[in-house]
Amino acid sequence: MIVRPTQLVAALIAGFAMVGAAQAQKAEVIHWWTSGGEAAAIKEFANMYNKMGGSWQDNPVAGGGGGAARTVIINRMQGGDAPTAAQFNYSNQYREAITAGLLNNLDDLAKKENWDAALPESIKTSIKVNGSYYAVPVNLHMPHWVWSNKAVLAKAGVTKDPQNLAEVMAAMDQVKAKLPGVVPLALGGQGWQEAILFQDVLLANGGKDLWLKVFKDKDLSSKEFRKTLEDFRKLKGYVDAGSPGRDWNLATGMVIEGKAAFQYMGDWAKGEFINAGKVQGKDFGCALVAGPNTPYIIGGDVFVFPKSDKPGVKEAQAKLAAMMYSKDGQVAFNNKKGSIPIRTDVDLTKVDACAAIGVKALKERRLLESQDQLMSPDANGAMNDAISKFWNSDQSVDDALKAMQVAVKR
Ligand code: GAL
Repeated sequence: MIVRPTQLVAALIAGFAMVGAAQAQKAEVIHWWTSGGEAAAIKEFANMYNKMGGSWQDNPVAGGGGGAARTVIINRMQGGDAPTAAQFNYSNQYREAITAGLLNNLDDLAKKENWDAALPESIKTSIKVNGSYYAVPVNLHMPHWVWSNKAVLAKAGVTKDPQNLAEVMAAMDQVKAKLPGVVPLALGGQGWQEAILFQDVLLANGGKDLWLKVFKDKDLSSKEFRKTLEDFRKLKGYVDAGSPGRDWNLATGMVIEGKAAFQYMGDWAKGEFINAGKVQGKDFGCALVAGPNTPYIIGGDVFVFPKSDKPGVKEAQAKLAAMMYSKDGQVAFNNKKGSIPIRTDVDLTKVDACAAIGVKALKERRLLESQDQLMSPDANGAMNDAISKFWNSDQSVDDALKAMQVAVKR
């Protein structure tokens, strides 16, 4: 998105003017943003904190999707050596830390910024527990987009940007037939990416109804769900042999460089296109996986602020959280990240066509909880393992269905 940051919020500057260089408040921040676009985005927060007199200690833990970072964060919290701030997704990932009393709450900021009224319900269910807020929301990502290289599609004779799974498959057939050197579908072969692809196919086959039937009601008996498995299997025929283990941003790189035609991925991929100087609509295309009416599934990120005995930590945390939620912080960060701000009181008029879809959904509060949010961490993990097993073996559709039925009920 392209929106213009204004000057730093006056109140924040006033707050930080009191902090001299000698007592610069150190803040160790753990996150998993190591790709080009991600690193550029988090740098905006770091610069802003430093400009305010703080001292940002960046601690990125590699591994897209964040599994590795979350393990480090949880171990450090449990071991009494917590960082100042740590990234999680909107989800149940940090619920146990809240229950165990490991996190400071953000109720002062939440009250000042009126989060009760300003934030959508489905965001609040993730960050508000027993009446208190435990995480600052920094963005809204949508995990279910398909990205394309426009020059590659033109060369393959695809004249209209494909808008749904059937059209993407038809376009990939054309790529296969006309451009033998180009990979039709770039996929990072890691469990969390395979899970996103599976969810994409599920959305394409049944939209919101099927989503809730499967992840909320745990009912996998429909013909649409069976078709999801069949279509998912079909997609394998478009993926190259180098996929297993590949990082998501390398897959995006294949599309950026014209080595691949499509990638199914969240809009953090857009951060990579932006970082490479590419322009939406000219160099690359974006579409929601099931067409314009695809439910807008919540993705995105929060920071939590663990309790600590060290002096000054609470003050540093309060300033970090206020900066991350400030209008300037949200705009500067989200401009680079590919996501949109979680607040609707910033200038969102200049966003690109993909982001505009998200802005509309956010304003109309037309958001739908993710698989992560709807299921327990156990069921979520077991489901993702079942998806990955099916993708990476020749397991039959019947056997995969049985395994998934057990997984979702965990
Ligand atoms: C998601 C996160 C995004 C993006 C992605 C890939 O979990 O919400 O911000 O960074 O992982 O690393």
